[in-house]
Amino acid sequence: MNAQRSGSRPLLAGNWKMNPARASEAAELARGVIGAARAASATVDVALLPPFPWLLGVAELLHETGVGLGAQDCFWEPAGAYTGEVSAVMLSGWCQWVLTGHSERRQIFGESDEWVSKKTKAAIGVGLNVILCVGELDDQFEAGRTDEVVSGQLQAALEYMSPGDSGRLVIAYEPIWAIGTGKNADPEHAYKTMRAIRRVLDESLGDEASSRVRILYGGSANSGNVGSYVELPLCDGCLVGGASLKAHEFARMIEVVAEVYGGPTTEEATTS
Ligand code: 13P
Repeated sequence: MNAQRSGSRPLLAGNWKMNPARASEAAELARGVIGAARAASATVDVALLPPFPWLLGVAELLHETGVGLGAQDCFWEPAGAYTGEVSAVMLSGWCQWVLTGHSERRQIFGESDEWVSKKTKAAIGVGLNVILCVGELDDQFEAGRTDEVVSGQLQAALEYMSPGDSGRLVIAYEPIWAIGTGKNADPEHAYKTMRAIRRVLDESLGDEASSRVRILYGGSANSGNVGSYVELPLCDGCLVGGASLKAHEFARMIEVVAEVYGGPTTEEATTS
């Protein structure tokens, strides 16, 4: 299968979730990835998504490296009495990226499709690139309802999206049963679901705007399986959790993606 969708560069994003516990560990992790990311920068986009308190420190380390920085969530109001929240506006000075609709936000913190939609619109409105996550539960997968569930989440999230904003949108397909379980989805299943995602994008935004939206896979992705996803014609990269917390492993993933896309990699990339 042809790896390259016209005009789309692959993206590898590391979602650190609520890790690591200390600022010094966050700095070490970021430093450990920069070499590989720079070596592959002609071919692969790389973004790191640390917890809020580590954003500024990691921003300094990433300055002028070409590695993107992102947050894991945002709130749609710009400022005000919203205890504990961080607005998209506040992030826009530091970050290029933000996640919306991650399944942990939906499942643990009860985020609705409507909230995901408002967050996505607000983030794009202030110039952030959004990685919008969709994915089905184990029982929905078993019942063969993946396409229906994922399409519904996506349609709801795209409600306020204008086709002109599509270049700042990335969709991450993350089956919930594959997240943190070591049971990565069969690439065939991922491919079929990405076809359903592409259909919704085409219908909602039109073919041209849809073609600017990248689609990622997420869920127990690692250096051993990332190649099987980025080889899929509809897959433009991966959103990585656990494996992004090990600098060498994430660096190796960057190299594999660059290799699949035929770009340069260097020996020192995994060891810097
Ligand atoms: P894991 O790679 O640890 O399964 O996590 C995936 C994820 O949720 C990324 O957002």
